[in-house]
Amino acid sequence: MDMFGGTKEHILPGAKISALGCYVPPGVLTNQDLEKMVDTSNQWILERTGIVERHIAPPEMATSDLAVEAARIALAQRGVDPTELDAIIVCTVTPDMLFPATACLVQNRLGAKGAWGFDLVAACSGFIYGLTTAAHLVMAGTHQKVLVIGSDTMSRIIDYTDRGTCILFGDGAGAMLIERAGPGEGFIGFLNEIDGSGGDYLKQPAGGSRMPATAATVAQRLHFVKQDGQQVFKYAVRKMYEASRDLLEKHGLAAKDVKLLIPHQANRRIITAAAERLGLCSDQVIINIDRFGNTTAGTIPLATRDAIEAGRLTKGDLVIFAAVGAGFTVGVNLWRWEY
Ligand SMILES: CC(C)(COP(=O)(O)OP(=O)(O)OC[C@H]1O[C@@H](n2cnc3c(N)ncnc32)[C@H](O)[C@@H]1OP(=O)(O)O)[C@@H](O)C(=O)NCCC(=O)NCCS
Repeated sequence: MDMFGGTKEHILPGAKISALGCYVPPGVLTNQDLEKMVDTSNQWILERTGIVERHIAPPEMATSDLAVEAARIALAQRGVDPTELDAIIVCTVTPDMLFPATACLVQNRLGAKGAWGFDLVAACSGFIYGLTTAAHLVMAGTHQKVLVIGSDTMSRIIDYTDRGTCILFGDGAGAMLIERAGPGEGFIGFLNEIDGSGGDYLKQPAGGSRMPATAATVAQRLHFVKQDGQQVFKYAVRKMYEASRDLLEKHGLAAKDVKLLIPHQANRRIITAAAERLGLCSDQVIINIDRFGNTTAGTIPLATRDAIEAGRLTKGDLVIFAAVGAGFTVGVNLWRWEY
């Protein structure tokens, strides 16, 4: 007997991904363009990262603009009016401003009058943390429709004189609609971790309360991304593998059960090394870093869109999303694809 005197076991509703929309700005920055900006080469970038080109937003476009474009496509795909949304989660490290939250700007532009929302800061794991959060809001029974948006305008915080970082990042956004589903449909489980001891390896040092903007912080280029690439690389390979392995094991699943690994796109070598350790073959892994670079919170939806368009992800497939990012943050989700 439960606390309400009932005898029936409480069955939680499920949460499914029911629509997807993506947007990248039209401008493209190629490896050849970068050769003219820093001491690098197309060959080095291709071999070390797998990136060919990335999209860059025009000066008048900010993160909320990319987010609204992606959100409108997702909502139109499902025929959902913005007023039906219960919550909007914007995952980003490049908000239009520190406050108001970009979620508020997006909510206003969409006319999502019934939604609350917030920004979620988890860098490259942001979209997966957003999916995890949205799934639980829906499964709690308190929300019917939650929109998760990953949107980043990385070009605004990248130092285009630093060849170690400027070759990696691009701008882009993607949105997924999470809706109530039948028990057992859609969301299966998650394994998310943070490890703040790695915080110094990838950060934007200035602009917060620790180091507010001054003429000196600007002169020292402290408002740009600073990274120890090798440390991040090693951690990313290990954790993307370990967390994915552990989540599959927890659910009694093996690599052969997975239709697709949709990984965060930070470096082709990180993805292939993690996938090999997991025992996945190449047709079980989506890689589209060549066309977009690392769009931070945008990579997972952008890669999912490519998987769908290529006919590699269809209803009933088991999909694992995996990411590692600044923080450090680690995020892995298992979903049954439902449309
Ligand atoms: C950044 C990254 C591509 C660098 O690749 P790497 O193989 O680790 O290269 P290293 O940092 O060891 O540098 C090797 C050499 O290449 C040089 N180099 C770095 N960037 C270069 C570039 N764009 N073009 C040419 N040479 C470059 C370095 O200066 C170094 O030269 P040195 O040996 O004379 O000192 C790689 O470390 C990486 O992808 N890290 C993870 C990044 C990431 O995932 N970030 C986001 C987290 S979500």
